Amino acid sequence: MNSALDQSHARYEAVFAEVEAPFAFVDLDAMRANSEAMLARAAEKPVRVASKSVRSRAVLDRILAADERYSGLLTFTLPETLWLAEQGYEDLLLAYPTADMGALGELALRSAANPQGAPIVMVDCAEHLDAIESVLGTGAAPVRVCIDVDAGWWALGGRVKVGPKRSPVRTPEHAAELAREIERRPQVELAALMAYEGQIAGVGDRPAGRRLRGAAIRFVQRRSAAELAERRAAVVAAVREVAPLPVVNGGGTGSLELTAAEEAVTEVAAGSGFYAPALFDHYSRFSLTPAAGFALPIVRKPAPSVATALGGGYLASGAGDPARLPVPWLPEGLRLDPEEGAGEVQTPLLGAAAAQLRIGDRAYLRHAKAGELCERFDVLHLVEGGQVVDVVPTYRGEGKAFL
Ligand SMILES: Cc1ncc(COP(=O)(O)O)c(C=O)c1O
Repeated sequence: MNSALDQSHARYEAVFAEVEAPFAFVDLDAMRANSEAMLARAAEKPVRVASKSVRSRAVLDRILAADERYSGLLTFTLPETLWLAEQGYEDLLLAYPTADMGALGELALRSAANPQGAPIVMVDCAEHLDAIESVLGTGAAPVRVCIDVDAGWWALGGRVKVGPKRSPVRTPEHAAELAREIERRPQVELAALMAYEGQIAGVGDRPAGRRLRGAAIRFVQRRSAAELAERRAAVVAAVREVAPLPVVNGGGTGSLELTAAEEAVTEVAAGSGFYAPALFDHYSRFSLTPAAGFALPIVRKPAPSVATALGGGYLASGAGDPARLPVPWLPEGLRLDPEEGAGEVQTPLLGAAAAQLRIGDRAYLRHAKAGELCERFDVLHLVEGGQVVDVVPTYRGEGKAFL
């Protein structure tokens, strides 16, 4: 955390005195500290910014402008990617495969107009290639593709898989076979390879109050990182026997220093670390400064020790455990009611600080994840140097709800 930054309830209440709650905000001073910390962890490697974890063009612009090592965006749906391309964003790599034939048709047009500048799309099987080819007329310019490689860890002799269940491509042989399949097809061109280690980058190894679980996570992550470093290098070497591979992407906010240290990786990805949501409080390798939050108005007092806020039920995606709930942040000393959690319309807040909150005061909370906060608000209030310096739309505020 950045101790130089005053993140007290009193300060934010002064900053947002004129803003009606509920509202969401990004603290640009905190985001700058997070950006610098992430660039340092990424050593000398370029950092591709994960747009799903930001979901505001204005904020993406500020991130990209902050340092020349930020290069390109790792996007999350093809319609989003095409929209960004239309707005002039370059170097777009779509991180997840698509089955959206309409959008693929549009991508084909974009690739025809600018074969080396159009977005790169993710593939992990021949069906993905078939889908792309089916929208291309004969003689059309090739669409650039990226091979997604499974970066998970197989434990207990292959009986248990740790990591996201995504690509079926895992071995150097399998990756080279898909690369040859791409080479055989003149209408697709191999441009990149990605291997994202979610079990390291996206899992905090210091879960609050769970020391044993933390030790188990650290053990798994160490083993997995060692296995992956070797396998990723072998996969990249095998694919390079088939075709040149200018881009090898890996990692995320939680693994920057580990992934960037691998020679085979040409660039790392990061997104969540800019906002530093609550799930990123629980890593031993780094600490970030909370940079995004939302304020809820206190609208009733069911008892002197309870303050009930309007709204707040902004749960994060993923396995449905309590860590996906928003976290009461300011004033310090608030907690959710275990019976009610964060409600659709009402969120009772308990804890020592709740007794001090009056109707009309505001409580500040943080989302468990990063970009999903933006699906709840049309605008973000940007704070810098103790004042609101801009109010910018989220994707939702621009009428864009991609997922
Ligand atoms: C493919 C891919 N790369 C990188 C990331 C890391 O993003 P972040 O830095 O927001 O955790 C993710 C997150 O889920 C991802 O799916």
